[in-house]
Amino acid sequence: MSDVSIKLKEVSKSFDGKLIIDTISCDFIKNKVHAILGKSGTGKSVLLKMLIGLFKPDSGKILINGKEAEHYKSVGDFKMSYIFQSSALLNSLTVLDNVTIFLDEHNVDEKESRVSKALKILNELGIKDSANKMPSELSGGMRKRVAIARSLIIEPDILLYDEPTSDLDPINTKTISQIINKLKARGDITQIVVTHDIGFAYSISDTISILDNGQILITGDPDLIKSSKNPILDSI
Ligand SMILES: Nc1ncnc2c1ncn2[C@@H]1O[C@H](COP(=O)(O)OP(=O)(O)OP(=O)(O)O)[C@@H](O)[C@H]1O
Ligand SMILES: [Mg+2]
Repeated sequence: MSDVSIKLKEVSKSFDGKLIIDTISCDFIKNKVHAILGKSGTGKSVLLKMLIGLFKPDSGKILINGKEAEHYKSVGDFKMSYIFQSSALLNSLTVLDNVTIFLDEHNVDEKESRVSKALKILNELGIKDSANKMPSELSGGMRKRVAIARSLIIEPDILLYDEPTSDLDPINTKTISQIINKLKARGDITQIVVTHDIGFAYSISDTISILDNGQILITGDPDLIKSSKNPILDSI
């Protein structure tokens, strides 16, 4: 089986006649952590939304496990989860109910086992004590961890993060980077992380791609990116 989890082949996307993603080709290797680093407005969220299927490319192909994205919804041979830039928790539900919501809605397992699964994940992420709190009672870092817990409960093969450290202080940023590294060590989940935080990208990534003006300028491991001296790095 191929070790490529997601393959982009000359993918382009425009909005209102403006080219946002410009003929991007890129491989994301299975069970590794890939960061997409770029300035605000360069198309990072648009790229992620195409991977999850919220936007369709105007041209080019997205292959997941070798199958074209258009068909993957009906294939059901892998699970993909997405952590929104805003965390997107439901404010009227407790932390626990936010985490179990997908399983509740799809009636997966008994309620008791959904709850124990959620508590186990919340415990791993260090927020089990907040299970009965409402989202409004949480800090930004805790909200982010609840959003990650909600994504993990479906046991995804591919996990996409949109700016998981935006608005977080260095301590919370470090916590998120530890969580991503812990998941990486498990070796069974492909993580793609969009960020404009270079230090954070270095702390989690197997590979980093620099996105600018809708194009990938360079892809490589953190050492290669550090030594590239690409002037774009000074402006992110
Ligand atoms: N649904 C949409 N309709 C029209 N234009 C859009 C839409 N979504 C994004 N865009 C445009 O695409 C461009 C890239 O947006 P995107 O949200 O991907 O940027 P980003 O790199 O994620 O920025 P940030 O770091 O601020 O989150 C912007 O010019 C934005 O206005
Ligand atoms: Mg964005």
